Amino acid sequence: LTSERYPKLQRGPFATLTDADVTSFERIVSGRVITEPSELDGYNTDWLRTVRGSSKLLLRPKTTEEVAAILSYCHDRGLAVVPQGGNTGLVGGSVPVFDEVIISTHLMNNIISLDEVSGTLVCQAGCVLATLDDHVGQCGLTMPLDLGAKGSCHIGGNLATNAGGVRLLRYGSLHGSVLGIEAVLPSGEVLDCMSTLRKDNTGYDLKQMFIGSEGTLGIITAASILCPQRPSAVSVALLGCKTFQGVLDIFKQTKRQLGEILTAFEFMDTASMELIGENLRLSNPIGASPFYVLIETGGSNQAHDEEKLSGLLEGLMEKGMAADGTLATEMTKIQAIWSLRERLAEALLHDGYCYKYDVSLPLSAFYQLVIDMRQRLEGAATRVVGYGHVGDGNLHLNVTSPEYSQRTMDLIEPFIYDWVAKQKGSISAEHGLGFKKRDFIYHSKSTSAVTLMKQIKNLVDPKGIMNPYKLLPSK
Ligand code: FAD
Ligand code: MLT
Ligand code: ZN
Repeated sequence: LTSERYPKLQRGPFATLTDADVTSFERIVSGRVITEPSELDGYNTDWLRTVRGSSKLLLRPKTTEEVAAILSYCHDRGLAVVPQGGNTGLVGGSVPVFDEVIISTHLMNNIISLDEVSGTLVCQAGCVLATLDDHVGQCGLTMPLDLGAKGSCHIGGNLATNAGGVRLLRYGSLHGSVLGIEAVLPSGEVLDCMSTLRKDNTGYDLKQMFIGSEGTLGIITAASILCPQRPSAVSVALLGCKTFQGVLDIFKQTKRQLGEILTAFEFMDTASMELIGENLRLSNPIGASPFYVLIETGGSNQAHDEEKLSGLLEGLMEKGMAADGTLATEMTKIQAIWSLRERLAEALLHDGYCYKYDVSLPLSAFYQLVIDMRQRLEGAATRVVGYGHVGDGNLHLNVTSPEYSQRTMDLIEPFIYDWVAKQKGSISAEHGLGFKKRDFIYHSKSTSAVTLMKQIKNLVDPKGIMNPYKLLPSK
């Protein structure tokens, strides 16, 4: 529990919720004010079940105006708040630390418009990513991001965390795909940056400040997003290879041969494959190997793309670069292969406690971290597994143990952050800093950068009510 693990943390000088506050909120969002402790439990606990807050109030607005009225009230009263989308965040950012009021975007799920010609989607922040993808799919478009949590995460949460996912390699980061954002500032003022234009160089691009701000600058209420053409032909290959250098050699060759149809290049190690087999009973369709690579292509000509991918596979096998491999073009088989990779986060939780790390590293040092960590944790962990978006230089290193152990934690941190900083990597590639990693921000950002971040925070949120104890360092 938070209080046990972070005994030194002080609650900020915020007001404490009263019955009169609850009555006032009832006037703003009538019938959508939750105070029942059993109902609040899930909203107080994060997806990993590693942090827990003790909020006594959950509000479920439906409109921007309601969010504005809520924040204006909280600002006047000095009540701290935490915005929450699908609560799939992995750094403890989406749940309260103490008794912050939870503002959920669950009911802000209207799809406002879709321009089929430009591919611009306009929607409220609480739309679930998979729902949006189904919706734009009907017009032959696709969402520019895809992640294992797509069935639960909200687009507002995706923007607030600047989520990466498995197709960043192809479609780039949300900083490029988002055309407009509407957000409510902590004061209750609505910031309208809802452009649907692709090009607009009129002053500072303020929407970018909200992408990756993790709920510390305001609540994103709506967005416009550029959706690329949905590939009509999709193929997936799973390959086994003997060394991590082999994974990199395959990556180089894959880019050379597949070019513009490459949509994903993911990797997992043998410990990951064992984990998914043991904990979720998913079976490996190819022979056991030290490393596995998942390659996805998305294009417009099935025969042409399949020929390119099978040509790649044959060449890799002939040269001995891949030990074994399989190719899938049928949806059920494609999904079965993707499950091996996408359900790893879920499989880890079956071991008990999961120490989760998400780092960017130069590819030359990428897997060495897993090897060093495994050696360091010998006897102190159930598993040390490495997987991730190798095509983007993003490693997910996860350690499990039956329950939380301070000894294991002390062996992992700050060792891992020092290791990453030495390589000039990032201590958070895509999950953000949230509550858990904020004090390590200096491992990846300069003092001058953090100082400017604090100044921006003070300007936008002088009372500090927006998601306190998150993203910015405690000292
Ligand atoms: P939440 O968890 O509810 O919130 C996350 C943060 O955003 C919090 O700080 C919260 O306060 C803030 N926030 C939420 N909504 C708003 C809003 N409307 N306005 C302002 N702030 C807001 N992440 C990746 O980057 N890549 C992956 O591949 C990936 N895969 C995942 C797979 C699984 C199985 C799981 C459980 C998580 C995964 N994640 C991944 C992490 C997580 O899903 C993403 O960070 C996601 O974008 C969070 O969306 P959410 O709606 O659940 O946000
Ligand atoms: C993933 O890529 O699977 C997600 O980021 C979740 C995780 O890191 O486990
Ligand atoms: Zn990821």
